Amino acid sequence: MSAPSYKIIDHVYDTVVVGAGGSGLRATMGAAEAGLKTACITKVFPTRSHTVAAQGGIAASLKNNTPDHWTWHMYDTVKGSDWLGDQDAIEYMVREAPAAVYELEHAGVPFSRNADGTIYQRPFGGHMQNMGEGPPVQRTCAAADRTGHAMLHALYQQSLKYAADFFIEYFAIDLIMDGGKCVGVIALCMDDGSIHRFRSQSVVLATGGYGRCYFTATSAHTCTGDGGGMVMRAGLPLQDMEFVQFHPTGIYGAGVLITEGARGEGGYLTNSEGERFMERYAPSAKDLASRDVVSRSMALEIREGRGVGPHKDHIFLHLDHIDSKVLGERLPGITESGKIFAGVDLTRQPLPVVPTVHYNMGGIPCDYNGRVMTIGPDGDPETVVPGLFAVGEAACVSVHGANRLGSNSLIDLVVFGRATGLYLKDNVKPGAAQPELPKDSADMALTRLDHFRNANGSTSTAEIRTEMQRTMSLHAAVFRNDELMAEGKDKLTQTYAKMQDIKIADRGLIWNSDLVETMELDNLISQASVTLHGAHNRKESRGAHAHEDFPNRNDADWMKHTVAWFDGWGGKGGDIRIDYRPVHEFTLTDDIEYIKPKARVY
Ligand code: FUM
Repeated sequence: MSAPSYKIIDHVYDTVVVGAGGSGLRATMGAAEAGLKTACITKVFPTRSHTVAAQGGIAASLKNNTPDHWTWHMYDTVKGSDWLGDQDAIEYMVREAPAAVYELEHAGVPFSRNADGTIYQRPFGGHMQNMGEGPPVQRTCAAADRTGHAMLHALYQQSLKYAADFFIEYFAIDLIMDGGKCVGVIALCMDDGSIHRFRSQSVVLATGGYGRCYFTATSAHTCTGDGGGMVMRAGLPLQDMEFVQFHPTGIYGAGVLITEGARGEGGYLTNSEGERFMERYAPSAKDLASRDVVSRSMALEIREGRGVGPHKDHIFLHLDHIDSKVLGERLPGITESGKIFAGVDLTRQPLPVVPTVHYNMGGIPCDYNGRVMTIGPDGDPETVVPGLFAVGEAACVSVHGANRLGSNSLIDLVVFGRATGLYLKDNVKPGAAQPELPKDSADMALTRLDHFRNANGSTSTAEIRTEMQRTMSLHAAVFRNDELMAEGKDKLTQTYAKMQDIKIADRGLIWNSDLVETMELDNLISQASVTLHGAHNRKESRGAHAHEDFPNRNDADWMKHTVAWFDGWGGKGGDIRIDYRPVHEFTLTDDIEYIKPKARVY
């Protein structure tokens, strides 16, 4: 069958970055600064990317407010990951973290300040002193509770300083692959409906997470995992998708984020008996245990009938004991969110909160230079996909393993966005001649676009999306078990098949949100599927994957990364293949020894 005919506008670049959140902008800035002809394609205006919603801060061992050391940060991150993180990549991140934060400071990020003028750092969950043996460390550098917002503006300004070209409100449809190598990307300009073919020596996917495959998430509605969808349609796998982070404090009913910084500044959780129950679950770190631990504890309190509210289905977060001047200075954003989304004056009343989907530890497998990896035909688990890079939440480096520590996301964005820019600087020759594109370079993208644009079935995109979201929320929640996951897999298979009967109302190309949402759904549902299948396969509990039939971590059999392929789109195919690759049981340098697995207690 020949591909539909659409007029294509061609572009040639050294580097194309897809996505303009923190990691995409940092990679764009680095590539452009290195003299590479760089394009950044983004479906939303850069300063509206989801990084804007990051609140509490960015982790780095600056030691401004308490003693700290990069080895302590490394230990906490490895422990937080429940030993699924790759320690070479973790060492890279924590050692580069202080320089990355100072770079942001010099780029204009208006960090909150200590009295001596240094950057203010607050405590965050799972970050401790002295290799986990000491009290909480103050490691999270904050710009009040609007750190992501501040970073995004500074990084966009910096990117504009160099000669990067921005293609704003362009939706990336599919990668262009040639013999296993990535050579470009096809995108739709949503504003005028034109189709663009970007030929490039290197493509960096910085498309964020896929939190919107759940019904309630702190993630923006734009978090539809477009990079992950493109990667799987290119025949490449995603990694560790079963590890989905639930943030302990999403506002009940609304899902809006209340920063962990709230507990860092002294906030605490209570149940219907007014008990500070975290003292029972994590006697040492209490409310500042890692997110998976706090979320599970809250879920157990609710399950055992100690939830608050008429339905006993949420928990209270108290900040009413904190000086309102402190709240005004350090937590102004959530003070406002509490009023708007819960009708609560948190200087006087507790806030209703519930664990809410927040972050995907899994994503596109890559190394700490951003190079995308797959398992090669010869079984080599470190096979590099030439021309393709991934950064930020879209990527799985893997520094977060089975559970990410709060404030390690923002540092991941800038450290690995920068590392990828440096790798491109050293390995991409500005203006190098590029081979002709394969004749069918746009076929996949145009066939999908045209198929969905003319889809005339009987089920709306919204109906299928809601069905997927409800299945994920019920069958891949904080706690999972075999029966629930098997049932979820069946339901999702049926929902996926309904994609063949999808109905699009708008046949146009200009601002066709119906069409774009359908392509987003196609991206989401393949990732939802590998999430549930990877989860059902993993017969242990580790980090965010709490399996009730296998409540313990099993390092002998399961200290390995899940790698999953999904074959199909638009309701067709849908076969899933799962394999595993080893966790890196080595560090980057001899400065620190591999941190051996042990029981994870907070
Ligand atoms: O709680 C927060 O402020 C979120 C931070 C993070 O996910 O790193």
